[in-house]
Amino acid sequence: MKNIVILISGTGSNMAAIARTAQKEAWQEKRDVRIAAVISNKADAQGLILAKSLGIDTDVLSHGAFESREAFDAALMVRIDLHAPQLVVLAGFMRILTPNFVQHYAGRLINIHPSLLPAFTGLHTHQRAIDAGCQVAGATVHQVTTALDYGAILAQAVVPVLQGDSAETLAARVLTQEHLIFPQAVRRFFEHRV
Ligand code: GRF
Repeated sequence: MKNIVILISGTGSNMAAIARTAQKEAWQEKRDVRIAAVISNKADAQGLILAKSLGIDTDVLSHGAFESREAFDAALMVRIDLHAPQLVVLAGFMRILTPNFVQHYAGRLINIHPSLLPAFTGLHTHQRAIDAGCQVAGATVHQVTTALDYGAILAQAVVPVLQGDSAETLAARVLTQEHLIFPQAVRRFFEHRV
């Protein structure tokens, strides 16, 4: 069995999109691929409830309980590695990861970022795209490297920026596309590995 571990911090809608696609397309039966666990760094993340409702094991590791980023990441690696994952998916996991963590999962760590990378790394991507007068915006699934929001691009989706868009309306439009490209990128990751 090829295990996926998904890390979240919040709503978990991208995690749910991957899980629903996995169920619909019977990844476990047909591809030997399953989501072994969803892990959150926040105990109150809504996505934990969603994951449970989808029948996925959940775990919480609160970063506040650790003295340093290094100590948290080391503990997180232990929790993740209980599942011996072939792929670790960052789905709205709002933590900057240490180089040690990134190197440990080199080649099997992917993230979704709500911009058309390499434009708008970091936070507030939608407002920044609006402020820059962009006519299109979007999302990127990419391999994670030690540089923030950098690494090989695996999938992208483009949406228009419409007159009168706020960061919220644009974010909602981008999110609908994230829910399409992220499951596709995960599926493709395993197709290249058979
Ligand atoms: C997504 O827009 C993702 O690109 C960004 O945070 C959001 C997470 O949403 N990094 P969700 O938790 O998957 O609903």
